[in-house]
Amino acid sequence: MNAVPRDVTPVSGTAPSLGDRLWRRLGGVAFGGDYNPEQWPAETRAEDLRLMAEARVNLVTVGVFGWARVEPARGAYDFSFFDQVLDDLHAHGITADLATMTASPPPWLAHEHPEILPVTADGTVLGPGGRQHFCPSSPVYRERAALLAERLAEHYRGHPALGMWHVGNEYGCHIPACYCDVSADDFRRWLRERYADDVEALNDAWSTDFWSQRYASFDHIRPPRVAPTYPNPAQQLDYLRFSNEALRACFDLEAGILRRVTPDVPITTNFLMGLKAVDVFDWAPRLDVVAVDSYPDPHDERPHLLPGLVYDTMRGAGGGDPWILMEQAPSAVNWRARNAIKQPGQMRLWSWQAIAHGADAILYFQWRQSRGGAEKFHSGMVPHAGADSRVYREIAALGKELASVPDLAGTRVRNQVAILLDWNSWWALELDSHPSDGVRQEDRLLDHYGPLFDLGVGVDVVPPSADLSGYALVVVPNLYLLSSEDARRVTAYVSGGGALVVSFFSGIVDEHDRVHLGGYPAPLREVLGVRVEEFSPAAEHETFPVRGYGALADLEGVADLWREDLQLAGAEPEMAFDSQGWAGRPAVTRHEYGEGTARYLSTRLDAATMRAILGRALAEAGVTPVVAGLPAGVQASVRDGAGRRFLILLNHTGDKHDITLPREWTDALAPSGEGIDVVTLPPSGVAVLRAVQ
Ligand code: GAL
Repeated sequence: MNAVPRDVTPVSGTAPSLGDRLWRRLGGVAFGGDYNPEQWPAETRAEDLRLMAEARVNLVTVGVFGWARVEPARGAYDFSFFDQVLDDLHAHGITADLATMTASPPPWLAHEHPEILPVTADGTVLGPGGRQHFCPSSPVYRERAALLAERLAEHYRGHPALGMWHVGNEYGCHIPACYCDVSADDFRRWLRERYADDVEALNDAWSTDFWSQRYASFDHIRPPRVAPTYPNPAQQLDYLRFSNEALRACFDLEAGILRRVTPDVPITTNFLMGLKAVDVFDWAPRLDVVAVDSYPDPHDERPHLLPGLVYDTMRGAGGGDPWILMEQAPSAVNWRARNAIKQPGQMRLWSWQAIAHGADAILYFQWRQSRGGAEKFHSGMVPHAGADSRVYREIAALGKELASVPDLAGTRVRNQVAILLDWNSWWALELDSHPSDGVRQEDRLLDHYGPLFDLGVGVDVVPPSADLSGYALVVVPNLYLLSSEDARRVTAYVSGGGALVVSFFSGIVDEHDRVHLGGYPAPLREVLGVRVEEFSPAAEHETFPVRGYGALADLEGVADLWREDLQLAGAEPEMAFDSQGWAGRPAVTRHEYGEGTARYLSTRLDAATMRAILGRALAEAGVTPVVAGLPAGVQASVRDGAGRRFLILLNHTGDKHDITLPREWTDALAPSGEGIDVVTLPPSGVAVLRAVQ
């Protein structure tokens, strides 16, 4: 592969980062998938290499489930199979993202050490025979995993195919937390450290005077296992934090070894769309390149929204750097109740969607559809039908298409709008015994993300600790847990001229799930200019009419889920409830604060009303859509840098659309040099346009 010049600014100093090295090595947008050659005979593997070359595959993840093969018995390492695989890949110009193989311990390990098996909160021991059957705190698991990582690193150090390490696989996917006695010990150690050995500090943080839970010693603490009623919420929250860190410690252990033995090889692990257990913002700085697995359900009404949100989170977590779509299904998955195929064109559309959100690598699970095992009905790039198939033809066509625009790689996505997401808040928000169980993080994020998508603006998803100063608008969906420090940062952003939109049930508790007192949302009251005494969650199907004020007098909508009897303390109402008993009480407010403005939404607005309110906030903040006047469901994204500029148009609808453009664009996929007036997008169509220099 020829390297192309890239617009990558090193994160620190002048030396290129390890991530940059990977991208330089790969050249253009990388293409490939999980490759599990151990499932196939030699003649099939020979065909694999031929087809990979044909489909322009240049990056494969190898060995994710290889442990039982390379260490068939304790300490009996045998890498000969993968030696051949890596040699063959290299001979075909394909880079290996080599797994540390620790995601699925071999049967002998669970047989010799059943204590490595994970235990659920109700005490069920989860057996081997699936995968990921290890307790993250297990010293035995960690020792064996570390030994394997070390042997692999020493063995493959300097191998020309080795381009990246893939540590573990989807940490936390099946086992977000373990509740065994080994974990209990590790939790007590973690708590001693967190509370500086001071059990009184823990009692205070956990509000243990409630229900006689005061601890006399750290030794008396257990994981929040199944209890007669709700376990202590602060204890549950700390257990989620601890479990994130226990998984992270497994990653760190292996990554530390790899960095020592092969300091020049970048390291990644794959995050998973929608996974609550692993705090992506916490882990991402430990990776050289951020990678994510994305499995939208083609049966969903708007299947592109959640992936878009996830991709914007990955880009946010990586500080805007290019990231890897490590896994997506070529067509159907096997693990839903009803597994929809990707219709013709949909796989291409969703791959380009990832690129439109900043991915520089499009990979799949998996290269060849398995013949046996639990995932035999999960699609592969080469399906059971073989290369003479729709799926493979679409794959090979996309591989060639991506290879035709190498200089797209390295360009960046830049947005003026941020959504704040915080894993600690997500964990706390979804604990039990809250005013409503309907305030779920992902759905509430989409309530905000969907209308912004419809309004045609791009979004970065970042944590509250991020530097907000470069954003014209910051949207805060239901950020239940907010430290006073983060609240001050958000407040300073507004007083310095920023525009803010905050939704209900934000800023309610501190980092120990203790309520900020004095009227909700206490740490944001000043900036929002409102005060709330009581929440009034809705019954399941209850709705409330809402109506605009002043310039918005014509705006009528429907709200549901939640409302509050809001007191104005400086803010002006923009919308009010319109139902009996609630008529005139504010539903949406706007407050001028310092140099900026802050809006508050005390209810969940229907999508059209949300678009109207967010549209006003965007207009006030001077944010315009990437391309004005696009039909609903057509997405536009710009990627630019180093003198190159691309416009990607994605038709997420089932209709054909003609898009009129200013004549500054040419077709990047079928270059003729001609300026383009109108782009015709068929259903699921994609256009990639290059700016005329
Ligand atoms: C991922 C996993 C892969 C494969 C895939 C199937 O969660 O990393 O190994 O199981 O799902 O969709």
